[in-house]
Amino acid sequence: MGLRLYFPLGQLLALLLLFLLSTPSLLIAAEQLEKSSNNRCDIFEGSWVFDNSYPLYDASQCPFIDSALNCQNNGRPDTLYLHYKWKPIGCDISRFDGEEFLERNRGKKVMFVGDSLSNNQWQSLWCMLHAAVPNANYTLASRGRITTLFFLEYGVSVMFLKNGFLVSLENRTLRLDTLSGSEEWKGVDVLIFNSYHWWLHTGRLRTWDSYQIGNQTQKDMDVMEAYKIALTTWANWVDSNIDPIKTRVFFQGISTVHYHGAEWNEPGVQDCRGQTKPVEGSNYPGTKPPGDEVVKSVLSNMKKPAILLDIVLLTQLRKDGHPSIYAGGGLDCSHWCLAGVPDTWNQLLYTILLQT
Ligand SMILES: *[C@@H]1O[C@H](CO)[C@@H](O)[C@H](O)[C@H]1NC(C)=O
Ligand SMILES: *[C@@H]1O[C@H](CO)[C@@H](O)[C@H](O)[C@H]1NC(C)=O
Ligand SMILES: *[C@@H]1O[C@H](CO)[C@@H](O)[C@H](O)[C@H]1NC(C)=O
Repeated sequence: MGLRLYFPLGQLLALLLLFLLSTPSLLIAAEQLEKSSNNRCDIFEGSWVFDNSYPLYDASQCPFIDSALNCQNNGRPDTLYLHYKWKPIGCDISRFDGEEFLERNRGKKVMFVGDSLSNNQWQSLWCMLHAAVPNANYTLASRGRITTLFFLEYGVSVMFLKNGFLVSLENRTLRLDTLSGSEEWKGVDVLIFNSYHWWLHTGRLRTWDSYQIGNQTQKDMDVMEAYKIALTTWANWVDSNIDPIKTRVFFQGISTVHYHGAEWNEPGVQDCRGQTKPVEGSNYPGTKPPGDEVVKSVLSNMKKPAILLDIVLLTQLRKDGHPSIYAGGGLDCSHWCLAGVPDTWNQLLYTILLQT
């Protein structure tokens, strides 16, 4: 990726380089500078910077946002959180061009499969596309667990299939070696899977009592181990059913929650309530969620690896991006306001689709 500089800045840099090169002890620094500009950039390592050209759309003009995610509509008083752009350390991500997205995917199907975080990203993509082509005709239809937004002039389907575990849940038993609804994944051109948060449910939210593999049932299992077996079942399906020439497969990494201020060095803060700014810089003091390691390990063992949308760090830094008390009831430090953080997930998806 070449450096493009304005002339005065180029001159400054040249002077700086001359200065660095004339000082032997700083030679290494100059070499590193050059090296870093040639290195491939990790688009998931970066920080959030203020940019007034964001958000990418006006939520009040988007006909699709769930009321629980429509924070401004629910009375959220601050707006700073809308104006942050994700800035990878060594490069920039492409600005989203919705018309280009639709053109490139002409006649194709894009499907999000997963829990409410998939739904969050899917709604975001709808809004981004709608903002790009506000006059395009579309239809919206639900069939079974699938909801499809179809752009008539482009023949593009953007779909959401709700499926929180990816594996089958029957009679309160999670069948870790049996996928749920995988026949619906066939014939789709871009698949974006996600599963994590449902595995963490406890108490009354917990929808299962036991696990089953083959004909063996067991009550107790480390939940991360169960998650790993289930993801491996999914990965094996991708390996044996997907032709990577025809189909792009993504895995939406783990979207983080903010229920403990201590994680971002504010032990006095209980949760995301009242947070109006991201954590500064590229480091989050708290640890990564345990599922992150599981996801990376399963993906690294795939024969036809799915592309990871590694959103852990970028979501960790956004303690300000949740609906909080503006979800239309209760407190939500798990999902994301729209416009907001998931718009960046789609920008990253778009950036990767352009490159590959
Ligand atoms: C949408 O459909 C109407 C009616 O068929 C048509 O007149 C119009 O040109 C279409 N809009 C676009 C942007 O193609
Ligand atoms: C689930 O329970 C129902 C009703 O008790 C039963 O008919 C069905 O066979 C069970 N399914 C499995 C997979 O055990
Ligand atoms: C359980 O699975 C094993 C191996 O597939 C098989 O040999 C055995 O007969 C099965 N047992 C029952 C009760 O189905």
